Amino acid sequence: MTLKVGFVGWRGMVGSVLLERMREEGDFKGFEPVFFTTSQVGGTGPDVGCGPTPLLDAADLRQLAKMDIIVTCQGGDYTSAVYGNLRKAGWKGYWLDAASTLRMADDAVIVLDPVNRAVINRSLTAHGRLFVGGNCTVSLMLMAVHGLFEAGLVEWVSTMTYQSASGAGAKNMRELLLQMRQVAAAPGALLDDPAAAILDIDRQVAASVRDPSLPTQHFGAPLAASLIPWIDKAVADGQTREEWKGHVECNKILGTAEPIPVDGVCVRVGAMRCHSQGLTLKLKKDLQLEHVESLLAGANDWVRVVPNDKATTLRDLTPAAVSGTLTVPIGRLHKMKMGPEYIAAFTVGDQLLWGAAEPIRRMLNIIREHLNR
Ligand code: HSE
Repeated sequence: MTLKVGFVGWRGMVGSVLLERMREEGDFKGFEPVFFTTSQVGGTGPDVGCGPTPLLDAADLRQLAKMDIIVTCQGGDYTSAVYGNLRKAGWKGYWLDAASTLRMADDAVIVLDPVNRAVINRSLTAHGRLFVGGNCTVSLMLMAVHGLFEAGLVEWVSTMTYQSASGAGAKNMRELLLQMRQVAAAPGALLDDPAAAILDIDRQVAASVRDPSLPTQHFGAPLAASLIPWIDKAVADGQTREEWKGHVECNKILGTAEPIPVDGVCVRVGAMRCHSQGLTLKLKKDLQLEHVESLLAGANDWVRVVPNDKATTLRDLTPAAVSGTLTVPIGRLHKMKMGPEYIAAFTVGDQLLWGAAEPIRRMLNIIREHLNR
């Protein structure tokens, strides 16, 4: 019997990256893709090699219930509106979701298979049917420092993040560029005049950043030529929800018996689609730095240890270098003044690939393999 896989939210940013990756990897084989829509019922779906298909209504539980697997990148409101009702109607299929809504549900597994394949396998064997992509910052951090967690060496980790506009959404990416254009234009001819005083230029720039005409509808503040040290809403203990996710999701992904503390400050910066993080790791023992590097480098196929020198760091350890790739570099590795167990590191990863679409793409294949066994 051919598996039916329903896709919802495939036109949005994460959904588009997912489809692009599935095409690249030749994933649209051996199952029947069915495309759903929240706005264009009866329109034509994308041709993924099986000819164009009509778009079905993403609110139609009867159509959804015919799917063996539903993959949604539609967002949390859709998940809240549909998932519970579909289960109540008796649907027993696999729900694979990019939104955060169901991540912390008891029966949900947060998927990041290079790191937690054992947790995923346990759930599949126990007939688990709810799989959710992780928070981008957490997934990217784990892809980078997987080797140290796997060896049971991490006592705690502090994550100071530099998160891209893409994490806030497509509209935010556009808003960042509109801000950049307006701010860069502010000094006018002064910028083209090498003799112009930089403080005159800066005065124009600062005025433009604070000008009420700067578009800030989506970020709520200027990001171009600035940053925003607040992501998502406030939760308890002075944390933001993004910071709270760091601890709970990291521990859930790893399936730790004793939680490993993860905490820090999450900051939005003017990068387009790569999240970066400055990490402080407290290890359980004093290891040679070379040992730490070899544990990191050997943990999965995507992490790359970047030598701690200026030329290689500037070449390989920046959003400019990493954007659009699956590589997760980690560098600036050194022992810290706090003591021999303290390691500093810096890592960068594409927020839309390993941070969002790639774990979902791989999990879809894992479920299909499981069902076809
Ligand atoms: N919450 C993240 C951010 C993206 O705002 O950057 C989604 O994981």
